[in-house]
Amino acid sequence: MYLKYSFGTLYVLIAFFCQVWSQETTNDPPKQSPTKDIYAGIGSSVELPCTAGVHEGLQWRLNGSVVGSGPVLNLRNASLGDKGIYTCHGPNGDTIETLHLHLGYAPSPPEVQCWVPSYPLKALCSWTQTPDPLLPTHYITTYWSDSEEQLPAVHSCQRKREQDRQCMLEGAELYSEAPYLVNITAVNALGSAPRILSVFLEDIVKPDRPVDVKATALPGKKVQVQWAPPPTWTDPVKFPLKYKVHFYWGNPNLDSTLGPYESDSMVRSGLVAGRTYQIRVSAMDFLGHGQSSEWSDPVNITLPKS
Ligand SMILES: *[C@@H]1O[C@H](CO)[C@@H](O)[C@H](O)[C@H]1NC(C)=O
Ligand SMILES: *[C@@H]1O[C@H](CO)[C@@H](O)[C@H](O)[C@H]1NC(C)=O
Ligand SMILES: *[C@@H]1O[C@H](CO)[C@@H](O)[C@H](O)[C@H]1NC(C)=O
Ligand SMILES: *[C@@H]1O[C@H](CO)[C@@H](O)[C@H](O)[C@H]1NC(C)=O
Repeated sequence: MYLKYSFGTLYVLIAFFCQVWSQETTNDPPKQSPTKDIYAGIGSSVELPCTAGVHEGLQWRLNGSVVGSGPVLNLRNASLGDKGIYTCHGPNGDTIETLHLHLGYAPSPPEVQCWVPSYPLKALCSWTQTPDPLLPTHYITTYWSDSEEQLPAVHSCQRKREQDRQCMLEGAELYSEAPYLVNITAVNALGSAPRILSVFLEDIVKPDRPVDVKATALPGKKVQVQWAPPPTWTDPVKFPLKYKVHFYWGNPNLDSTLGPYESDSMVRSGLVAGRTYQIRVSAMDFLGHGQSSEWSDPVNITLPKS
């Protein structure tokens, strides 16, 4: 009981002193102008103004080190080494201005890829941004049907989180008369760059890879391979898929691709006893739309010697 009480008292005392101390420290330097963010391109000329009534005896510091004097600081051919916090000081050392200089590039058009891992309801677009603009960059993601309409309805391509570089087209239709236009626009403080992609959904069907691939050795130098369709494909209607099965040993280019199979298993005979085979499976829309999935991760099977 006593111990608990004294810890409590100590805590209250510490809290009290912290509060007094923080009030003193925050009140200590006389009022400072708020930090202003400045964005500039690498290689550009940057002028940093000190907006004071004073014109004499002004001094500039970068991260605290003196870098120049006068009412305007000129940086020619700015490079990444010039970024940081610039402060302008009056003759008595007071901070008059605080500027946070950020350097980077205007975005280039993002590289966009769209595919349909499950139809009829879902198409995804993902994108990459090179070179890295080095500045906070956000994306405006929209799509619409490129029909004859004067003012097509523009939809938002939805992201789960703001920072995601992938968005989802909902309710787009297969076999539409007109393609869909997808607009992914990169925006930062230095500029914006759109990328417009024109897609027919049936051309960009690409299932996810099959799952649960299993190989079992059977008597007579045979192997049975079983798999399950990609779980994303089954929602909400299970359209049929066809599969290819790839057998190899050592070098994946020593090819033996079999199929297509419309079922979820196959048996291969005529294999070599004692050899370890690697086996992977890929799925494709039954009607042959779009592309095959990526290969599943390989599974190994070694044929018994006898
Ligand atoms: C700007 O600086 C970069 C490297 O810092 C240099 O390669 C380039 O030649 C400079 N450009 C000019 C116009 O001075
Ligand atoms: C100044 O400090 C910032 C971090 O606040 C750092 O990113 C920048 O490289 C520093 N600049 C210099 C020239 O030291
Ligand atoms: C693409 O989106 C950007 C940002 O919303 C917009 O400014 C631009 O006009 C759009 N492009 C087209 C062709 O609609
Ligand atoms: C399968 O076999 C290959 C080559 O023999 C080997 O590199 C790989 O690690 C094996 N994979 C597993 C999961 O055992």
